[in-house]
Amino acid sequence: MKFPVKTPIQNYNQMPAISLNSISSWTKFLFLIGATFLFCVEGTAQDNSLIPIPVSVNPGNGSFVLSAQTTIVVPSKQPELQKIAAYLTEKVSPPTGFTLKTSESSNSESVIDFLLNSKPDPQLGTEGYTLVINPVKVSISANSPSGIFYGVQTLLQLLPKEIESKNLQSEVKWEVPANSILDYPRFPWRGIMLDVSRHFFSKDYVMEYIDQLARYKFNRLHLHLTDDNGWRVEIKSLPKLTSVGAWRVPRTGTFGSNAVPKPGEKPSYGGFYTQDDIKELVRFAKDRFIEIVPEIDVPGHSMAALASYPELSVTKDTTTKVNPGTNFSTWFGNGKFEMHIDNTLNPTDEKVYQFLDKVFTEIAAIFPYEYIHMGGDECYKGYWERDPGVQAFMKKNKIKNGEELQSYFVKRVAKIISAKKKKMIGWDEILEGGIAPGAAVMSWRGTKGGIEASHLKHPVVMSPAPQYYLDMVQGERSIEPPVYSTARLKDTYLFNVLPEGIDSAFVMGGQGNLWTEQIPTEAHAEYMTYPRAFAIAETMWSPNGRRQWDNFVMRVEDHFQRFDERGINYSPSIYDPIIEVKKDDNGKLTIELTSEAQDVDIFYTVDNTIPNQYAPKYNGAINFPEGADMLRVITYQNNKPLGRLISLETVDLEKRIVK
Ligand code: ACM
Repeated sequence: MKFPVKTPIQNYNQMPAISLNSISSWTKFLFLIGATFLFCVEGTAQDNSLIPIPVSVNPGNGSFVLSAQTTIVVPSKQPELQKIAAYLTEKVSPPTGFTLKTSESSNSESVIDFLLNSKPDPQLGTEGYTLVINPVKVSISANSPSGIFYGVQTLLQLLPKEIESKNLQSEVKWEVPANSILDYPRFPWRGIMLDVSRHFFSKDYVMEYIDQLARYKFNRLHLHLTDDNGWRVEIKSLPKLTSVGAWRVPRTGTFGSNAVPKPGEKPSYGGFYTQDDIKELVRFAKDRFIEIVPEIDVPGHSMAALASYPELSVTKDTTTKVNPGTNFSTWFGNGKFEMHIDNTLNPTDEKVYQFLDKVFTEIAAIFPYEYIHMGGDECYKGYWERDPGVQAFMKKNKIKNGEELQSYFVKRVAKIISAKKKKMIGWDEILEGGIAPGAAVMSWRGTKGGIEASHLKHPVVMSPAPQYYLDMVQGERSIEPPVYSTARLKDTYLFNVLPEGIDSAFVMGGQGNLWTEQIPTEAHAEYMTYPRAFAIAETMWSPNGRRQWDNFVMRVEDHFQRFDERGINYSPSIYDPIIEVKKDDNGKLTIELTSEAQDVDIFYTVDNTIPNQYAPKYNGAINFPEGADMLRVITYQNNKPLGRLISLETVDLEKRIVK
């Protein structure tokens, strides 16, 4: 049980209610002065703009100044802390020009002290830390190196934003406000999934992505390594998985409606990670306290594997190609679907389990962590159900339907994974037909699977669509690549990760999923990840009671400035107006405009001219004039355009009417 130290304002909020009328004017005066003081103190703490917001922040007096004389003091024989000291030095060196010294003791005037508690502080757990900053010293203490690393992240966020720059910033005073911070995570699994199958992301880019996640105290990167559109990890005993399965014909355009491969067309788009690449990624992530969780998605989503080894499906179709983003399925809107190309492994064929044994043997050897993800999602059972051999197998083994057959497959996979001394995790479909003993569940079709798994006493990671799906549109649909649903920053931030009915004892945490069908570039991967990953980081790390939307948005805006310094892309969708169209009783259109960011001015036109700060400023519902062709809208903050220009024709507005 944890007992967080309260911030001043929390104490104030929890004071017994006193009626101001019942006390003397003098006492009232003192009370108000006190309350004002407390409010200002809290203001200072929040001005620090930390994401995720710590458990408690108590501001002190003055500030610490990082200088060329600053020494990091690390106790002897602590190689992990030495590494963290090197990491901190590497981060601050380009903008400050300082090479911080590391030593076992120091009489320097300016010290950053790393200290592992000799007696573990139960409040901190394995990942918590305390960070105490005064004018001469920064002390970070924790029970384990990961806590020290997270303390360092908080320290970096307390430095001026220019600390993020890759270039020397000689004009900046590297001041850190005095504070006493106590912090520890709400959940042990704080993840992001990166789909490297639909589009391939280089090893170097994955490292950059990991480095950035660590800044926000994420500790899991789930790599979706295989799918219909590419197999991305070397399996030495099955070389065709990468010589064939990692490559597809190149296509640009809306994924899901691309042209099919032409006869004889060369598959030239793709790539994969060698096992040495994976080892390098694992080491890089480990130095940032991030575990990499590999996903091999079976028995569905297996077209790249089948292009390599067609004998593993019931159809054994030797013309199967790695899919370049064509449309090969029909979705019926009730969760049901049909695949027009067989992308499933044959669950009744022993050769499939021999294949999977080889795959998981090699995967288990290069990913040193507890869990292996086996996918299990969206498996079309039609080819199985129509196959006489499969039907005979089902009859013989008293398997009643496709769900039970998938459950048979998943349980076989669970045995293979368990024989490699690993635990299995899968998407929530692994609940169907009966879950394998000990399997953990990633709840993605909303929260239902998570609730059910928790009642069955299986570990759960909450990663529901749409709120935690980072591929969803996050702003105005007309200016974004087409994706089937929307998750605005506010939807992600306010999502209740412990919905009613869940047994929270089984919830390991949560995860944002970056599916990359519509994400062809690194810059767009960042645009889709941030700022929503901030919301997930805060939900996973910070106490629920510390989360507050308005305050969060202000901190997000500060982090945008830090990203600008570093040169990382993000979505400015919080500045785009949210356009709500209604029809009044006389059939006339009225339009209401809001935005997620505060302090924005919205300017609009209805006369085809381009709006800027000289156009009409929105101050209440617009009566859209009869005969107008289009609405154009843009947002400004402090006289600068921050939102993008949005132009919607009258027909588009009419399609958006909410009744
Ligand atoms: C999924 O989104 N198919 C897990």
